[in-house]
Amino acid sequence: MADLYGYIDQNMPRFREELDHFLRIPSVSAKSEHVPDMKRTAEWLAERMRDAGLDTTIEPTKGHPIILGEYRGAGDDAPTVLVYGHYDVQPPEPLDEWTSPPFEPQVRDGRIYARGSIDDKGQLYVHVKAIEAHMKTNGSLPVNLIVLAEGEEEVGSENLMPFIEANKDRLACDYVVISDTGMVAEGVPTIGTSLRGLAYLEVHVRGPRTDLHSGSYGGAVLNPATALARIIATLHDDDWHITVPGFYDDVDPMEDYRRKLKDVPFDHEGFRKDTGAEEVGETGFDSAERLWIRPTAEVNGLLSGYTGEGAKTVLPARAMAKISFRLVPDQDPDRIAELVTNHIHEVAPQGVVVEVKNLHGGNPWRATLGSELYEAAERAMGAAWGQDVVYAGEGGSIPIVPEFERVLDAPVLLMGLGEPGANTHAPDEWMSVDAFEKGTHASARLWEELAKK
Ligand code: BES
Ligand code: ZN
Repeated sequence: MADLYGYIDQNMPRFREELDHFLRIPSVSAKSEHVPDMKRTAEWLAERMRDAGLDTTIEPTKGHPIILGEYRGAGDDAPTVLVYGHYDVQPPEPLDEWTSPPFEPQVRDGRIYARGSIDDKGQLYVHVKAIEAHMKTNGSLPVNLIVLAEGEEEVGSENLMPFIEANKDRLACDYVVISDTGMVAEGVPTIGTSLRGLAYLEVHVRGPRTDLHSGSYGGAVLNPATALARIIATLHDDDWHITVPGFYDDVDPMEDYRRKLKDVPFDHEGFRKDTGAEEVGETGFDSAERLWIRPTAEVNGLLSGYTGEGAKTVLPARAMAKISFRLVPDQDPDRIAELVTNHIHEVAPQGVVVEVKNLHGGNPWRATLGSELYEAAERAMGAAWGQDVVYAGEGGSIPIVPEFERVLDAPVLLMGLGEPGANTHAPDEWMSVDAFEKGTHASARLWEELAKK
């Protein structure tokens, strides 16, 4: 066998230049002004997947395109692996909080700073380069491979759900491998064991016909901002339990898992340093439990009244909040959206009109551990990092993961490459050069390990 790992090391400077190019395209899925950038990113990535040796097509959707690359050369006896990732990124704002511009990648202290570096362009590109390494050194791959890259993960994967249903024969596989999660500590290879689900709502509160003079009318007309603040304040009690009736009905207490969590190293000091905040949350649970096995209610955005320079005495006509709920097994996003909507209408004060919109949702997920997929990953990742793999939960969501298991009936492996404090969705997002390099080695080795069985 030609020197697979030598090829990766020798070509790493080029891989990094290509990643920089990938990171320079502002593929922000949430904003319509970036539709041409999304198309450009999809075309660029499809070309790189072709260079790597995959038969690649761009599949149009009602939203941003899906890219599908296939290698079927390993034959019927070899397993088929589906690698999933996303080429869309979160909006980069607030821009003035970035040390270097979000779409001009810069390396500082061994970290590649750019929007999308860790979420998820860098993590996805690791797999594309590992495939290239096999194809260029051996002319083949030891497993059949499908690479599925979508452009709508950050906005709820709405068009990917029907796509996998409609293409389930083409996407049939034995394993799904995803790098879009984190690591427990810098340089510690980590397999993710759970993801939270999500229910995302928008609450609109309308009061007077137009903004009013707050002296001429204030006190005699209910202020929509005050009404919204009161509504939001009813979501938690003093112990930071969520007070929406029925909210916890389907929550699995996961007592077994909770006991195992006690063995997972959770870096409390690092957590406080990375966040610049105290550890505060639901009474009776520690931070690891609050993040991995407990649901949340979170205000993601608030809008009302005058927020410009100086003072303006105004009684705003409207207020709006974006509120999302992270969910755990066995909560159902639609059911939670319904419970919350009912609760909000119940507590809304008289004098305003309240409308609740259900934007999108996703199911929670828990890994079924112990299969040969995880054994192979332990060997591949263990070799790349030179130390044992750690298993850990995840607080974030990847809505398509439970759907892969349901529709394709294949187990999912989360090989996360995001180190704590990587500023996902925030200014100064980064991926470490080390994780990019070791991730590429681990991916290349994983295909070998999976072929051995
Ligand atoms: N890569 C993240 C998911 C993630 C974040 C996993 C942190 C583990 C830890 C992904 O790109 C993401 O941000 N997902 C969204 C999903 C939502 C838009 C439905 C999320 O979690 O907010
Ligand atoms: Zn994300």
